[in-house]
Amino acid sequence: MRVVIQENYENMSKWAANYIAGKINAHKEARPFVLGLPTGSSPIGVYKELIAMNRAGKVSFANVVTFNMDEYLGLPKTHDQSYWYFMHDNFFDHLVDMKAENINILNGMTDDPEGECRRYEEKIASYGGIDLFMGGIGVDGHLAFNEPFTSLSSRTGVRDLTTDTRIVNSRFFGNDPEKVPAQALSVGIGTVTDSKEVLVLISGHNKARALAATVEGSVSQKWTCSALQMHNGAIIACDEAACGELTVDTYKYFLDIERKERL
Ligand code: GLP
Repeated sequence: MRVVIQENYENMSKWAANYIAGKINAHKEARPFVLGLPTGSSPIGVYKELIAMNRAGKVSFANVVTFNMDEYLGLPKTHDQSYWYFMHDNFFDHLVDMKAENINILNGMTDDPEGECRRYEEKIASYGGIDLFMGGIGVDGHLAFNEPFTSLSSRTGVRDLTTDTRIVNSRFFGNDPEKVPAQALSVGIGTVTDSKEVLVLISGHNKARALAATVEGSVSQKWTCSALQMHNGAIIACDEAACGELTVDTYKYFLDIERKERL
């Protein structure tokens, strides 16, 4: 696992955006570059940077296919808290060359959730899998909507949200946890770890326990983010604020390694 510690959210976002743009630009094959994407506050800075780079002609999305991590069950696309709405509002609508037909987001209004999830997995497979999956994690370490005790080999499916997650996400629903949908469609932990590379953004004091569990904890279904330890191409991009629960040794180790990377 590679852990890139940046001073603050802004620098973390810039680092991650540069990394993603570099991967897209290095992709010379005719088949599209397949990018997995998250929602939430963590990736907003990355999206802003990628939009600026795209509009400045530094990275093109013309040959990029995207798959989003998750979507609330029961929210229409037009709902301002649906992840479809979030992605278009914060990212896709601002890119100059993203093709609408290359955007894949689970349909939260489907009347066949199991079929929708199965088709999503099949569509990912039809492209030869995901090249790079960017993710964020919840304060309880959930990756996509894979809450604690979801199988570490889970595939795309319906997920029940924990009370904790509904409370945390209620800030977007008038601070009323009851207004947060109780279920979501989500890629599985196995779907994420099947990707060639996984880049997870972890920032802020409230994610400190989750970062420590991801990097230093045992691999456990209690912290589904810990499955990344079993992935050969996992990168954690984090900020100083999120490092509060790492041991000093771990913190120094990763700073040291990255310093050598730059030499
Ligand atoms: C939601 C999403 C996750 C996301 C998490 C963290 O629960 N389903 O995919 O990683 O929020 O959000 P934030 O980045 O706002 O802390």
